[in-house]
Amino acid sequence: MAKRAVLAYSGGLDTSVAVKWMQENLGVEVIAMAVDVGQERSEEDMDAVRERALAAGAVEALVVDARQEFADEYASKALKANALYEGKYPLVSALSRPVIVKHLVAAAREFGADAVAHGCTGKGNDQVRFEVSTRALAPDLEVIAPVRTWGMTREDAILYAYRNEIPITATKEKVYSIDDNLWGRAIECGEMEDPWAVPPQGVWSLTKQTATEPRDVEITFVQGVPTAVDGKPMGLVELIDHLNQVVGSFGWGRIDMVENRRVGIKSRETYECPAALALILAHEDLESICLERDLEREKVRMESRYAELIYDGLWFSPLREAYDAFIDSSQEYVSGEVRLRLEPGSCRVTGRRSDHSLYDYGLATYDAADEFRHEDSAGFVRLWGLGIETWSARQGPGSRNS
Ligand code: ARG
Repeated sequence: MAKRAVLAYSGGLDTSVAVKWMQENLGVEVIAMAVDVGQERSEEDMDAVRERALAAGAVEALVVDARQEFADEYASKALKANALYEGKYPLVSALSRPVIVKHLVAAAREFGADAVAHGCTGKGNDQVRFEVSTRALAPDLEVIAPVRTWGMTREDAILYAYRNEIPITATKEKVYSIDDNLWGRAIECGEMEDPWAVPPQGVWSLTKQTATEPRDVEITFVQGVPTAVDGKPMGLVELIDHLNQVVGSFGWGRIDMVENRRVGIKSRETYECPAALALILAHEDLESICLERDLEREKVRMESRYAELIYDGLWFSPLREAYDAFIDSSQEYVSGEVRLRLEPGSCRVTGRRSDHSLYDYGLATYDAADEFRHEDSAGFVRLWGLGIETWSARQGPGSRNS
C-alpha cells in the first residue's frame, strides 16, 4: 500500500475532501499539486488554492505554472493536427491531462512519493487519461482514485468537508462540472444532461457577446504555429489568451454536442473554445494553399485518428509520436497569414496568403493571363475516364443501349 501520494489538486470540493479522506481511510500522506494550464482564476488565484490544500490537511502544497509548456508542447501539436474529436471538440481537457500527469510524476520523484492520485469519477474520460499517462511515464507508481471508491454523494462530500473543517466553496460550484484551460472551457451536468435542453445563458463565460461592430483579425503562422496577431508578435500563451478574448467577445466558439466517451457512455457536452476553433479554422485554411494535394489528403485522413488517440488517453504513445513526426514534416511550408472576419455570432476566413503558396494565378485564372495548357486536358480526361468507358460498354449502361 502506498504511503505518500501526489494528488492532482484543483481546489474544488472533491479534491479538497480527497486530501483528508485519503489520510483518514488509506493512511496516505498527501502532497497536493495544482497545475496551472491557464484556468480562469477570477475570484481566487493559485495562492488561495495552495492555502486551501494545506487547510485541508495536505503535508505539502505545490503550484506549477505549466501554461507555456501546455501551449508550446500540447496545444500547438493539436493545432498543427487540426485535432477535433468527432469533428467538433478541440480536446480541451484531454490535452491538459498528460501535462498534469508529467508534473505529478516529477513531484512524486522529487518528494519520494509512491503514488499519484486524482479526483476523477469512474464514469469519465479523465480517469483514463490520468491513469494511462501515469502508467506510460511511471509504471511503478500506484494510482489512487478516491472519488471512484468512496461512495459519497455530493451532499455526503459537503457534509464530510464541514465535519472536518475543510474549506470549500460548494455553493459557488453549483450544479455544473467545469474544466477549463487556455484551450477552452468544458461545462457539463445540470439541466444539460437532457440533450434536448437549451444550455442556460449563465453557463457561458468566454463567449459572452459584447462586441457589436465587425472586425478583422490577421493571424500569422510560421511552420504551422501561430506567431502574431494583426502583425503583433506574441508568444503562444499570450496569443491564445488574446484570441479567446477577441473572438469570444463576438459570442463565437461554442460547441454543443453529444460525444462518445471512452467508457462507452454518450454524453451531452458544451464547450466554449473561441481561440482554439478560430486557430484551427485559420490553420486548416492556410494548409489549403501550402500543402501539396496528396499530402493534404493524407493528413486530413489521420487528423481524426490523432484526435481520438488524445481523447482516449494515449498521448504518451508511439503512435502519437509517429503522427507528430509526419505532421511536423508536413508543416515545413505552412507559413503565412490568414484573415478572419468577426461578426456577432460568426467567424469566417476571408483571405489567406503565403510566400510558399501553391496557388498559381497563371494556372487558376480565367482571364487573359491564363497559362494553363488547355490542349492537354482532352487527352487527360479521355484516359481518366477510360476504365469507366470500358465498363459502360461491356457491363454498364453502354451495353444496354444497342
Ligand atoms: N468531455 C470532455 C472530455 O472528456 C470534458 C471533460 C471535462 N472534465 C471535467 N472534469 N468536467 O474531454
